[in-house]
Amino acid sequence: MKKIISALALSCILFTETTTAQLNGIIPQPVQIKFATTEGHFILDPQTLLLADSLINPANFLNEYLLNYYGFNLKKNSKGTKHGISLSIDKHINTKEGQYTLSVNKQDVKITGNSAQAVFYGVQSLIQLLPAEKTSAKSLKLPAVNIVDYPRFAYRGMHLDVSRHFFDVAFIKKYIDYLALHKLNNFHWHLTDDQGWRIEIKKHPKLTAISAWRNGTIIGLYPGTGNDGQRYGGYYTQEDVKEVIRYAADRYINVIPEIDVPAHSMAVLAAYPEFGTEPTKKYEVAQTWGIFNRLNNVLQPTEQTFKFLEEVLTEVITLFPSPYIHIGGDEASKIWWKKSSVSQKIMKDNNLKDESALQSYFIHRIEKIVNSKGKTIIGWDEILDGGLAPNAIVMSWRGEKGGISAAKQKHKVIMTPENMMYFNHSQFLKDDSLTAARYVPLKTVYDYDPVPTALTVSEAKYIWGAQGNLWSEYISNPAKLNYMLFPRLDALSEVLWSPKEKRNYKDFQNRLKTQFKRYDLMKINYSKRYLTNLYP
Ligand code: ACM
Repeated sequence: MKKIISALALSCILFTETTTAQLNGIIPQPVQIKFATTEGHFILDPQTLLLADSLINPANFLNEYLLNYYGFNLKKNSKGTKHGISLSIDKHINTKEGQYTLSVNKQDVKITGNSAQAVFYGVQSLIQLLPAEKTSAKSLKLPAVNIVDYPRFAYRGMHLDVSRHFFDVAFIKKYIDYLALHKLNNFHWHLTDDQGWRIEIKKHPKLTAISAWRNGTIIGLYPGTGNDGQRYGGYYTQEDVKEVIRYAADRYINVIPEIDVPAHSMAVLAAYPEFGTEPTKKYEVAQTWGIFNRLNNVLQPTEQTFKFLEEVLTEVITLFPSPYIHIGGDEASKIWWKKSSVSQKIMKDNNLKDESALQSYFIHRIEKIVNSKGKTIIGWDEILDGGLAPNAIVMSWRGEKGGISAAKQKHKVIMTPENMMYFNHSQFLKDDSLTAARYVPLKTVYDYDPVPTALTVSEAKYIWGAQGNLWSEYISNPAKLNYMLFPRLDALSEVLWSPKEKRNYKDFQNRLKTQFKRYDLMKINYSKRYLTNLYP
């Protein structure tokens, strides 16, 4: 009896579920993690073999990470070995989409997954078990552990506005790596807006010759203290876009392009005023923020506008393998259509009772184009105005109201309410750095639950996931971007990935301490204020 009791006690010691941070630096928090504290360590060194079968992307990612941050990588080997890291697919033990199992003991490290993508997630967890500090040692200790893990939401997104400020391909790749490290699977690339068009469209070269450049930018917080008078701009060639898509695909991240219509189109109108509601006006690529209702940035819903948009979308859809195309739909002030006799005639001819119906008509027309090419539209929640297009996915940003309404109408929803998911707002009540006006602290992001209590269980199934948004009016360089992004991206990843009942802010803050060391190692800027005050 004594023996049985002590064996039981021992088994409790061997695998202890821990919420402490000394060992677990993994973000997002896995579904299940048990450290075998008495089992010792696996030593990862240049002699360790990597058995990866055909799982080239997860294996390459691991090797690149090791080379970048520890100065060595592993030989790949297809034969069995006693001392190695094996990556393989096993759908029997990993039954859920995205599920992986990671085990580390003295002899070996095994990652199995439901798919190559799931194995890749296992690799992300593995690299977070490695020492976070810089070390010249070529012998790295991995703690013995068993992890079973899978995501809570199918859509796990992060957005970036490259119109207000442009970020080059090299940085976009880094951004994709940040998303990969946090097990996100969608990059929403906001490519067009009033302040600059950022994608080459071969049929309409003025979009890059004219629309991609502005002749100045306001200084300081809107309305600004002046204008810098500097020509500013840039765009991605179609080859750049292909390179980004390939890079993201290797990291199991889908790239969703956004072509924002019918508003946010001042840059388009600067090149093609004939598509505006005031075709004789001299439109300019915007140099200021906060355009809504003040400056005319709306497209005229004529057949020539739809023909132009069809040509643009055809090239975009040919380039992007994403099943989803974001068509914007936000902040279309109705005043320009009200003032335009052409818009009014189009409304009359199409039996549209008001400008909300015209907004809906516009989105329906765009949806038809996109659907005809086998793709689905995503739009900001204004696409609910005047009636939702039949297959549209709604991105709820003006709070959760739009998302709730769309879910009740059985449309898929991505939650991105501004008060919780907009990382361009300040993290602190008083920020030394210029930011958008609201206050979105780390804890607010962490505490967000994308499933509103207003929904029934069957309606809640339409909540596809959530997304963090990064608008770049006040973000003009990568260091500032990282400062705004980290560690709110970490909080977002737990919202999207970890089981709701596993979320614990105190434990998260503890794990962040390790994560910050890793960011130092990776030369990622984050708000250093969290080092002295983790509890703002
Ligand atoms: C938005 O923030 N205008 C979607």
